Amino acid sequence: MNYQEVSRSVVVVIGTGGMGLAVARRLAGGRRLLLADYSEASLEAAVGACRGEGHAAEGCAVDISDRDSVVKLAAAADILGRIDAVVHTAGVSPTMATARQIYEIDLLGTAHVIDAFLAVASPGTSLVAVASMAGHLASLSSDLERHLAVAATDQLLNHKEIDLDSSNAADAYIVAKRGNQLRVQAAAHDWGAKGARVNTISPGVTSTPMGLAELTGPTGAYIQSMIDLSGARRIGTSDDIAAAAAFLTGPESSFITGNDILVDGGAIASQRWNTGQ
Ligand SMILES: NC(=O)c1ccc[n+]([C@@H]2O[C@H](COP(=O)([O-])OP(=O)(O)OC[C@H]3O[C@@H](n4cnc5c(N)ncnc54)[C@H](OP(=O)(O)O)[C@@H]3O)[C@@H](O)[C@H]2O)c1
Repeated sequence: MNYQEVSRSVVVVIGTGGMGLAVARRLAGGRRLLLADYSEASLEAAVGACRGEGHAAEGCAVDISDRDSVVKLAAAADILGRIDAVVHTAGVSPTMATARQIYEIDLLGTAHVIDAFLAVASPGTSLVAVASMAGHLASLSSDLERHLAVAATDQLLNHKEIDLDSSNAADAYIVAKRGNQLRVQAAAHDWGAKGARVNTISPGVTSTPMGLAELTGPTGAYIQSMIDLSGARRIGTSDDIAAAAAFLTGPESSFITGNDILVDGGAIASQRWNTGQ
């Protein structure tokens, strides 16, 4: 692929797991793809797959829990061209990680991404971070909500209600994902000053390695019941999430920022109104 021949429009996809690859394929056409992931092996495989399909793809290793690593990724994207879309799908879930890892990767890591890409955003840039329907299950104190929204990033994990050593990874995940939703609300004003937008997508249970691991994990029966009671009565697909990402990074959503789109087949709505009783 001769990179001189493709557009200088850059799409950054962070996390090359189930959702990340689907998003990359959906947004790639005619643009330069910069894929980023923690694991060099899965990054190499993802770049190879995208190039094999004819896309102009490059890879950059990143650990989103490390601020400097994310700053380097943003600088690499900036050099490639005009950053039109950043879709951040990297993360860990309760069956695969401790509470500390969830706070450091899902909560702090997402704040690093929002900060680092604000520095290189330009008119038209749209960042989408993948949160979770779990964030819609949160019932947090107003003090913690405010902290998650506006605390300085290097202080984000310092709050009396955030216990990094907790044995309850599921609760940490709910706090972290609610934190993602609040963080983009608070960041939208600064992003707007650059003519750029920032939003979250909150998926329901989605058929990726992570989603399937949760379904077979300790809370699998509860998660399955959420699917069974939902309006859609099915598990989500990575394409469902990619479609929402395409909308939020495209021109038809230009009046949507600081917001969250819940793509959960109606699972959260049914939790409230159709509990099966
Ligand atoms: N699947 C679901 O049911 C579901 C539901 C709601 C929300 N979500 C959220 O959706 C997002 C994407 O999930 P997915 O289902 O696509 O999961 P996935 O297939 O496990 O992909 C997640 C990717 O994130 C990467 N990653 C993990 N820690 C990282 C770090 N510190 N720095 C950089 N990359 C890192 C992983 O890298 P490795 O290659 O090292 O594994 C993996 O490639 C996550 O934020 C998740 O919480 C998922």
